[in-house]
Amino acid sequence: MIKLAGIDIGNDSIKLVVDGSKEPFMIPNIIAPGYERHILQEEDSAWKALDVVIYSPSLSQRNQRYFVGQLALEHEDNLELEDTDNKALSDQSLIVALTALAYQGLVSQTAASGYGQTDEVEYTIGTGLPVRAFAKYHQPFEQRLLGEHEVTFLSTPQLRNRKVKVIVRKAAISIEGAAAMFHLATHDSLQVKDEEIYSGIIGVCEIGALTTDFPVIKRMAIDNHFSHGEQIGIATYLDAIIRDVEDAYGYVFPSRAKLAARVKNRQYTIQLPGEGQVDIRAIVDQHFRRAAVRMVEMIKKRWRKCPDIQCFYVIGGGAAALKPYILDAAGPMKLRFTNDSEFLNVQGYLKVAKSRLNQAVPV
Ligand SMILES: Nc1ncnc2c1ncn2[C@@H]1O[C@H](COP(=O)(O)OP(=O)(O)OP(=O)(O)O)[C@@H](O)[C@H]1O
Ligand SMILES: [Mg+2]
Repeated sequence: MIKLAGIDIGNDSIKLVVDGSKEPFMIPNIIAPGYERHILQEEDSAWKALDVVIYSPSLSQRNQRYFVGQLALEHEDNLELEDTDNKALSDQSLIVALTALAYQGLVSQTAASGYGQTDEVEYTIGTGLPVRAFAKYHQPFEQRLLGEHEVTFLSTPQLRNRKVKVIVRKAAISIEGAAAMFHLATHDSLQVKDEEIYSGIIGVCEIGALTTDFPVIKRMAIDNHFSHGEQIGIATYLDAIIRDVEDAYGYVFPSRAKLAARVKNRQYTIQLPGEGQVDIRAIVDQHFRRAAVRMVEMIKKRWRKCPDIQCFYVIGGGAAALKPYILDAAGPMKLRFTNDSEFLNVQGYLKVAKSRLNQAVPV
């Protein structure tokens, strides 16, 4: 059986949703070199300890071992993406994406056992690239995803020594932010849910970790002339917060993802050695305010360039983080926010994969 899935290969995290399951799941896009680790207490779920060896013809290094996602989060040698990385060509992103596809294949229990002990899972996937990368890189990106890959789980609880062949049969590549609007405009059946978005001219500001995309969508088609992308995202500001906290208190966050998780949970107090505690809220506010002003300026500029835009949606994980600051900076300008804004793209990619299979909608 071929699974239909949407996968959002984000610079901050990879989100995956499979047709028929409501909930997307997410793995931080972070890896570290893997090794025989000393396990004092086994993790209580497989997701917390993704320890894999990956073989893929698309990777420059084959059969390497990696700690992926949560397991790499606190690791000294962990790697997070930089703004110079291109996610269409990034080995790291592909490693995390293949791990996610293999993991999903095993936990959903539908992976068919092939020869010997290898499980097999086949996918048709929808995914996407930022506005600026799309034209140049959508073909190489598709080629890297397609084909047969192999993921072996090592010390991962419940999945120890399981080997999965991940076969990607087809990949439909769309544009970040645009797919999100397709999701908002349609039901799961792909019938129209929101006539205004479906037939209107909609501005989008999709704030990711490293890129912010401004697609303009006209009756569900991307406007080539007015769509735009910026090489800046919330990570730029998270990195600045990490630097300032280190300068002020000597406290070093082990990863951007760690800080992001704290901001998400509104835990602004950090623990220092010797029972000291400090509140980093003021530092966070300062940088997020700056981010919001910049975003609002960019939105204004886009809206002035294309006055036909009827309404502007602010989405992506960055929108969730910056919402109160952006509302403040926007003044009387009306902007729209949604719930679950970091999962709109992935849900949209799944629908794009569905609709392209049925050849119905030109997103
Ligand atoms: N509710 C929230 N509060 C605070 N921060 C959040 C919230 N939701 C998401 N974030 C943070 O926003 C950032 C951007 O998340 P998002 O998932 O959109 O990025 P991405 O898709 O991985 O990156 P990109 O689009 O650049 O490839 C992340 O650092 C994430 O941790
Ligand atoms: Mg994104």
